[in-house]
Amino acid sequence: MRVLFIGDVVGSPGRRGLRDAMPGLRERYAPDLIVVNGENTAGGVGITERTANDLFGIGTGVITTGNHVYRHREAYDFLERERLVIRPANYPAGNPGRGFTVVEVGGMKVGVINLSGGIGLKVARSPFDTVDAILESIDAEAVIVDFHAEVTSEKVAMGWHLDGRVGAVFGTHTHVPTADGRVLPGGTAFISDVGMTGSRTSVLGVKPEQALASMIKQMPTRFETAEEDVWVMGAVVELNQRGLADSFEQVMVPAPPPQA
Ligand SMILES: [Fe+2]
Ligand SMILES: [Fe+2]
Repeated sequence: MRVLFIGDVVGSPGRRGLRDAMPGLRERYAPDLIVVNGENTAGGVGITERTANDLFGIGTGVITTGNHVYRHREAYDFLERERLVIRPANYPAGNPGRGFTVVEVGGMKVGVINLSGGIGLKVARSPFDTVDAILESIDAEAVIVDFHAEVTSEKVAMGWHLDGRVGAVFGTHTHVPTADGRVLPGGTAFISDVGMTGSRTSVLGVKPEQALASMIKQMPTRFETAEEDVWVMGAVVELNQRGLADSFEQVMVPAPPPQA
């Protein structure tokens, strides 16, 4: 069972880039399940029903999110009713949406859990306790986790916490890919951050001159999504019958150039 996981898709350039790259990714990896972090799909920040449907339209099975999930108020009702879009499980109880979901893929029940790091991000509960509680009750033969977190130490720690208990822990949120992807000794594929799907001529997806103006002048600055040189970043893992990983491969490919 092969899972293709895609890091934070940023704005319409990211959505277009992923759409255009998908035929090539399908041919190369033949994924059974595609999981995409969609927290930046709507105008670079947040998600809406429309941007989620864009991702579903290209074959995405489950959409994960993160700290920007509640940016667009009109999405709250959508998050309540769409069980294939999830948000961090350790947010306050009663917030719109759910923290995990289970899909049936190739005769296997695959659980997808979304967690937020507790360092530098707002959470209601520890991601470690939260994931332990979910794993006790989830009805799945394999589980993958999107750990949306700021700090590499917390992410690496989560990898060890879950090693041998889930198939994969994919880090997201920083938009910068790390070089530590591998299968841990207990059989859990792990990477601190898969990176983003968006413009590389940017600061985390934002036009460089605007990000620079904000940092140098420290004045309110309008942020726009950068469009040039879009890359798709993620990872592919092969899960076995025990729900553990046989392999990990990092994905970093340029989106095909737009058709003239
Ligand atoms: Fe993000
Ligand atoms: Fe984030």
